[in-house]
Amino acid sequence: MTDKGSIAATGEFKGRLKEGVYRAIYARRDIRSQFLSDPIPEQVLARILHAAHHAPSVGFMQPWDFILIRRHEIREAVHAAFLRANAEATMMFSEEKREQYKSFKLEGVLDSPLNICITRDQERFGPVVIGRTANRIMDLYSCVCAVQNLWLAARAEGLGVGWVSIIHDRDVQEILHLPRHVVPVAYLCIGYVTHFPEKPELEAAGWIPRLPLDKLVFCDQWGKECKTEWPALHQEIITRKDK
Ligand SMILES: Cc1cc2nc3c(=O)[nH]c(=O)nc-3n(C[C@H](O)[C@H](O)[C@H](O)COP(=O)(O)O)c2cc1C
Repeated sequence: MTDKGSIAATGEFKGRLKEGVYRAIYARRDIRSQFLSDPIPEQVLARILHAAHHAPSVGFMQPWDFILIRRHEIREAVHAAFLRANAEATMMFSEEKREQYKSFKLEGVLDSPLNICITRDQERFGPVVIGRTANRIMDLYSCVCAVQNLWLAARAEGLGVGWVSIIHDRDVQEILHLPRHVVPVAYLCIGYVTHFPEKPELEAAGWIPRLPLDKLVFCDQWGKECKTEWPALHQEIITRKDK
């Protein structure tokens, strides 16, 4: 095992190579408050876009497009749409939760130097695509895989990403001039950061805890816990907490 890591004949990543993949996964955070205004070098941006473009997709449909949004007027319009949707959202929470909800910063549209909208072209490669016959929504899932690839690659580059979903699709559709067959999937804010919080902000704020994994892993049928069916795995899962 070399210091830099290598790939074994079996295909397994060794050493630092493997560690790097897990590190990106565990150290990734959703970023809203920690953005710096420093520009993102083009080479870095191109690398993370390529990483996104190498996501898996149903029938190799590659249904995504990436709209890079720098212009202030456009971001102002998106921000205004967020404020409208967030005002509606605030009223959906119970009174006890509402004040805490209002204390959260849930977007970095104007603070980040770049926004990226990842969209879904529902007609790419025609009406019949391998794997998208029984479940037409698979193209959406493919786009989400691209989002995650971008998010992880960005983390490895030291870039924070925040997903802004408190916004109506129709607003994004109009502001970004999307054609009818193209719909927004993820509106992302991206940039360098002061720091990456160690835990999800909602967890740190006591809003929702991370659920214990052993309660979410079932054997053979929904609801059938591994504890009795597969005790060795259950033991590994519970002893291996975070990371
Ligand atoms: C589909 C999706 C939509 C999200 N929308 C928002 C959002 O509108 N505003 C926000 O602050 N965070 C948003 N998040 C971030 C989540 O709150 C965050 O992923 C979660 O709290 C876990 O934190 P972590 O990403 O730092 O691990 C979204 C995440 C996902 C996957």
